[in-house]
Amino acid sequence: MKRLTEFGQLEDPSFSAAVINWQKSHGRHALPWQNTRDAYRIWLSEIMLQQTQVAAVLAYYARFLERFPTLHDLAAAPSEDVMAQWSGLGYYTRARNLHACAKRVVEEYGGVFPSDPALLADLPGIGRSTAAAISAFSSGTRAAILDGNVKRVFARVFGIDEFPGVKAVEDGLWRRAEALLPLEGIESGIESYTQGLMDLGATLCTRSKPDCPRCPLRDRCVAHATGRTAELPVRKPKKTIPEKQAAVLVVIESGQVLLEQRAQSGIWGGLMSLPEADGHAVRGALAIDAVAPLAGAFGEVEEISALLPLVHVFTHYRLHIAPFQVTLSRRAILAAPYLWWDLARIDSAPLPAPVKKLLLDLSAPSLF
Ligand code: ADE
Repeated sequence: MKRLTEFGQLEDPSFSAAVINWQKSHGRHALPWQNTRDAYRIWLSEIMLQQTQVAAVLAYYARFLERFPTLHDLAAAPSEDVMAQWSGLGYYTRARNLHACAKRVVEEYGGVFPSDPALLADLPGIGRSTAAAISAFSSGTRAAILDGNVKRVFARVFGIDEFPGVKAVEDGLWRRAEALLPLEGIESGIESYTQGLMDLGATLCTRSKPDCPRCPLRDRCVAHATGRTAELPVRKPKKTIPEKQAAVLVVIESGQVLLEQRAQSGIWGGLMSLPEADGHAVRGALAIDAVAPLAGAFGEVEEISALLPLVHVFTHYRLHIAPFQVTLSRRAILAAPYLWWDLARIDSAPLPAPVKKLLLDLSAPSLF
């Protein structure tokens, strides 16, 4: 029977039943942190598995427990030892939080993890989903998980075509996760359900090659029905970055090119570069007129011609560089920040990579 929750989410016991049945026959049952109610071992596994896959965690998990067999051993250990045991697993904040969490559970809870997910989620390194998983596995508490794998399963099954990282979308997913929990009862099957969602996400409903034919949720999956498993979940939208334009002058005279020392601050600070006429609309034939006055400051101009434009992407913007080659019949007398540099030794000039490439291409022997 389907009912609406107080938040308007559809309860659907057939969903959890499908996950539980599948987990019992096709899920994973022999992982080293399963078949125990030891909250220490379960907590340790969940922290290690937060950003690392099962295969990579296995050896670390075994070694870690050998070195710190109990929560008290871990809490009492020097932090260097904890970090050393974690070394290679990455995301080291996890190890620092793990150690801090062990100490707090010893100090505040006498070394016994609380079973209430809200209390667990108040401890270092334990977020809402991890708290629910620890609580479900160690004491059968009916609490919803929503890690990256589960988000992917839900996004596909329910055809959610918004990026799940957006707060409002994530809030909606949490409401669904709560509504879909197996109904309360003596044997709710919360452990199999929680493990089942994780197993589905890790083994069948994978990001790039979902194995839909074997999936117990296939018949209710919007992404499967509409052929959108490759598009869902929606990926993080790429930030659009501003576009800027700059014209640069490649002033060449007697085998030398004119360089300009850039200010210490700003992009390419302290490097040399080409004289730049920024702020102009530098595309098209009219651009030559726009750069002519700057070119004229460097000597008697014989010819200006546009070279192929290039694009350079910085973290905060994309720079379209329009280079203009300027041939002089006579040099003006120039002082700092300008200097002439032999084209033949341009490789040794402290230039930004795209500018160096432009000059190397220009001075390539094949062009002469
Ligand atoms: N990923 C996070 N928790 C897990 C668990 N208990 N088993 C397998 N993979 C997991």
